[in-house]
Amino acid sequence: MTSVLPRSVRAATERRATPRHYVMCPPTYFDVTYTINPWMDPTVPVDKERAMAQWSALRDTYLQLGHRVDLLEPLPGLPDMVFAANGATVVGGRVLGARFRHPQRAAEAEAHLAWFRAAGFTVVEAEYVNEGEGDLLVVGDVVLAGSGFRTDPAAHREASIVLGRPVISLELVDPRFYHLDTAIAVLDDTTIAWLPAAFSPASQEIVRRSYPDAIEASPADAEVLGLNAVSDGRHVVLPAAATGLAEQIAERGFVPVPVDLSELLKAGGGAKCCTLEVRA
Ligand code: ARG
Repeated sequence: MTSVLPRSVRAATERRATPRHYVMCPPTYFDVTYTINPWMDPTVPVDKERAMAQWSALRDTYLQLGHRVDLLEPLPGLPDMVFAANGATVVGGRVLGARFRHPQRAAEAEAHLAWFRAAGFTVVEAEYVNEGEGDLLVVGDVVLAGSGFRTDPAAHREASIVLGRPVISLELVDPRFYHLDTAIAVLDDTTIAWLPAAFSPASQEIVRRSYPDAIEASPADAEVLGLNAVSDGRHVVLPAAATGLAEQIAERGFVPVPVDLSELLKAGGGAKCCTLEVRA
């Protein structure tokens, strides 16, 4: 079918995927046994088989898109370990380890460090609390860094030094969106989608100035963790329930790839939370 759009417009909306390398951790011991965010209610049962099936479908989606997925060995007693994004931040082959806010997840940090060391990376152990890519989002050459609930603002400077990238600090204000990756989706090196209301007025201003073309998600789409998305520059893997956001990103030339992660949502996580990107 010939496009009715002028060539210049079409070119601007054609998106190119680049192959990615991810680390994921199977939800073998996944459960909701404590409450460290408003999504987690230990009285609501978790269907572990369903969680595993949903997670496997997410991994298969990445493989079908041509990406590499390495696995981290799950450990008993760490029910949130499936949320691999929180374990480290990797930019240009430099690895900043995580340091978790809550004792329930503290031991995950060492498992990630060990994995990266075994894979031949030089790793830096964090001095300040940072929850990996939950709060440190790489957008092109900069890192957007969240604080307010988990990551210590002092960790932003540490991340800038260790990762060798400028960092833009943003303050989260709504406990439902406790990690930056629940309030901002990185679509490519210059494009983001976000929920303005999740940020302090000053941080909203910074985002608006830095990304004047940012896609604004509806509260309804953000409330199903629609912004917890993983993009390869063209395909955007996001929670299936975020139908409005899928349309918005499609209008910008991205290809939405919906996945159902409803069991993992019971712990306050989605696709991005399960996916740690290794940027060599
Ligand atoms: N239950 C986990 C926690 O509260 C969910 C982590 C979600 N991860 C993320 N990258 N947002 O720590």
